[in-house]
Amino acid sequence: MTSYTSWSRFSKSMHWLIAMCIFVAAMLGWIAHESAMSPGKLQLFLWHKSVGITVLGLMCLRLVWRLIHAAPQDVSGMTAQELKLANLGHWVLYAFAILLPLSGWILNSAANYPFRWFGLFEIPMLMGPDKDIQTAATRAHWTLFCILAALVAGHVVMAFKHHLAGIPLLSRMLPERLGIVPTLAFLLGLSAAWVGLAYTMSYSTPSSRANQDQSAGQAVTQESVSGVSAGAKTAPLWVMDAESSSLTFIATYDDIEFKGGFSEFAPVINFDATDLAGSIFDVSINTTTVDTDNYDRDELLPLTDWFWFEKYQEATYVATSFESLESGQYRANGILELKGVSKSVPLEFNWEVVDENTATLVGTAVVNRRDFAIGDGGWFDDPTVGYEVKVMVDLMLTQSN
Ligand code: HEM
Ligand code: HEM
Repeated sequence: MTSYTSWSRFSKSMHWLIAMCIFVAAMLGWIAHESAMSPGKLQLFLWHKSVGITVLGLMCLRLVWRLIHAAPQDVSGMTAQELKLANLGHWVLYAFAILLPLSGWILNSAANYPFRWFGLFEIPMLMGPDKDIQTAATRAHWTLFCILAALVAGHVVMAFKHHLAGIPLLSRMLPERLGIVPTLAFLLGLSAAWVGLAYTMSYSTPSSRANQDQSAGQAVTQESVSGVSAGAKTAPLWVMDAESSSLTFIATYDDIEFKGGFSEFAPVINFDATDLAGSIFDVSINTTTVDTDNYDRDELLPLTDWFWFEKYQEATYVATSFESLESGQYRANGILELKGVSKSVPLEFNWEVVDENTATLVGTAVVNRRDFAIGDGGWFDDPTVGYEVKVMVDLMLTQSN
């Protein structure tokens, strides 16, 4: 077998590139973890995860490369015992530099936070939401990080110790024409620039709502709701079968869709396709039952910037004006009142009479979250939290006698 005195250009590039990425991921993770909840914090975590997944990919590639390419020949000046320990130490570094990002990926999947690698493509989730796995993987992520940090510290100390003892381990890992100081200074400078750029980009979301004229919510509050009580309820009343009905929505974070829903809502539906003038929808929604299957996000939703549970527990949707579209399709021109704001929101729906007493109503409406100050304060202008939310209603109804 051919033996080499130095690491290949590929091995050296991988070593320093991965070392830099691990340093950047650690800094971003640490800063994000210490920051108060805000759109910027979540953006920093998006950077953290993208850099972390890069480490995982590069480490796997490097592992395969290392398994099929021999290390350089042993240097003189080290005992057999020291060589064995150094070799073992390197394999342990491989293991932890793979396990750490893997634990991050698992914790992120269990927490149900889909994300795109540097905004380019979606990283698949490894599992569905699971609070227990999320808790265990979060603890493991931190523990693995501490172990890897200690291993790297020991690794660096040993590299310098050997270097000072005249054993050329460090020089055979350095780029050909660069000394140790320029190499480390270059890598540290690049890492600091990367962290600085990520931080600046994360916290430079467009002007906050506080700087705006704040007119969005107030203007629509003025919108007329006077037509609501005008209709006469001549159409038959339909009662919802709660077990077979749902009120859900699809929103986006970082351009990736996620689903949510309200488990408690009470629709009063008077509808007759041949008597649209006598039809009325009057729906009450218990907003405190909102759930998006993401424990961290669901902890934010009760707060002032989101649904503000303390002040608003109910939203209503009232429609007295209906239009017939193509066969079986209708549009309700209703008013949604949510978080103190009333605004017209058309609901297009399909009405299907299953038998004499049963009908289904399946419809969708598009709501702009900003019209109702859902995601206020720093979230208001944050485009990562998609503005448009698609609301889906699927009702199984029985005609009341
Ligand atoms: C070499 C790569 C990585 C390093 C050095 C690293 C390091 C860290 C550090 C220092 C923290 C803050 C401490 C903590 O809260 O536990 C953290 C948190 C976090 N990391 Fe990583 N991480 C890496 C990879 C990843 C990857 C690949 C993901 C996901 C795809 C990820 C997701 C997270 C998440 C979601 C948190 C917040 C945990 C919490 O709820 O507190 N990490 N990471
Ligand atoms: C996160 C940071 C780091 C990680 C994960 C890491 C990991 C590794 C691994 C796995 C090897 C073995 C190479 C192989 O078998 O393919 C290695 C070699 C080496 N590392 Fe690091 N390293 C890191 C940072 C550093 C730093 C900062 C220095 C020096 C200042 C350094 C100096 C060296 C040297 C000199 C070797 C070659 C040893 C030899 O020739 O036998 N490493 N490193």
